[in-house]
Amino acid sequence: MGQLDGKVAVVTGAASGIGAATAKRFAAEGATTVSMDVAPGVGVVEVDVRDEAAVMAAFAAVQAEHGRIDVIVNAAGVAGGGPVHMVEASEWDRVVDINLKGTFFTNKAAVTLMLEQTPNAVGQRGSIVNIASIEGIEGTEGGSAYSASKGGVVILTKNVAIDYGRRGIRANVICPGFIETPLMDEVFGLDGMADIKQSFLDAHALGRSGEPREIAAAAVFLASDDSSFVTGSSMIVDGGYTAGRQHGIVDMLGLGFDPQT
Ligand SMILES: NC(=O)c1ccc[n+]([C@@H]2O[C@H](COP(=O)([O-])OP(=O)(O)OC[C@H]3O[C@@H](n4cnc5c(N)ncnc54)[C@H](O)[C@@H]3O)[C@@H](O)[C@H]2O)c1
Repeated sequence: MGQLDGKVAVVTGAASGIGAATAKRFAAEGATTVSMDVAPGVGVVEVDVRDEAAVMAAFAAVQAEHGRIDVIVNAAGVAGGGPVHMVEASEWDRVVDINLKGTFFTNKAAVTLMLEQTPNAVGQRGSIVNIASIEGIEGTEGGSAYSASKGGVVILTKNVAIDYGRRGIRANVICPGFIETPLMDEVFGLDGMADIKQSFLDAHALGRSGEPREIAAAAVFLASDDSSFVTGSSMIVDGGYTAGRQHGIVDMLGLGFDPQT
């Protein structure tokens, strides 16, 4: 028996990375899963999350075909930004339009359709799962547009949770640490970035980056009825990146230990 048996789910950004892993896991957990992305892919419905009318039409088509939409996972997103005095307005708009306005449009469409649905066995109409980032809850060197967009996604999600909780709609946001996907390759694939990437990986308490399936696993919980009392939550799934800093004081005091033992 799957954790999402009988549910109908929409996953955006599903042609790649976290979205693709989430769609695959949702299907394995028994959900009827509709993948959407601006990029073409096998079994992917082509939708640009910046196009409000297209998002609404695509979501409405899912509800019409399958009877309801129980879950949306909004994983469509792009990297971008830089120190603010170097960021062109066009770059700001590109990043914020996809990451934040796109989340607004998908959430708006989902809420509109979920409100029409009868509550399920646990008295709920739907679950919204947005994907932000740990860069939406703490600053990052050169983050600007990306961090601002993700911070916006975090607080938007909390507001959706407040506005629609009594109508049976839950909304939560996952804040991943650094996850091995094409988006991360784009950021760290530039010349001279190998050491910088290693320093980012070292900053995770677990000493490594994450895998898309580890974010998909968190999304399964937030989509399932097991999380029926969880709403307005920003779930950090970051291998300890935001747990705090390590400055070597334990080693300096001679209290270090061999991590291999
Ligand atoms: N990889 C990481 O380290 C990481 C960390 C924190 C948060 N995130 C977030 O997770 C989400 C998924 O990222 P990923 O790492 O899997 O990246 P990815 O590049 O592998 O996948 C992102 C997908 O979003 C799609 N997309 C982009 N613009 C779109 C649009 N306008 N409409 C519809 N789809 C669009 C892309 O085509 C792509 O398939 C993003 O929101 C990203 O910001 C990623």
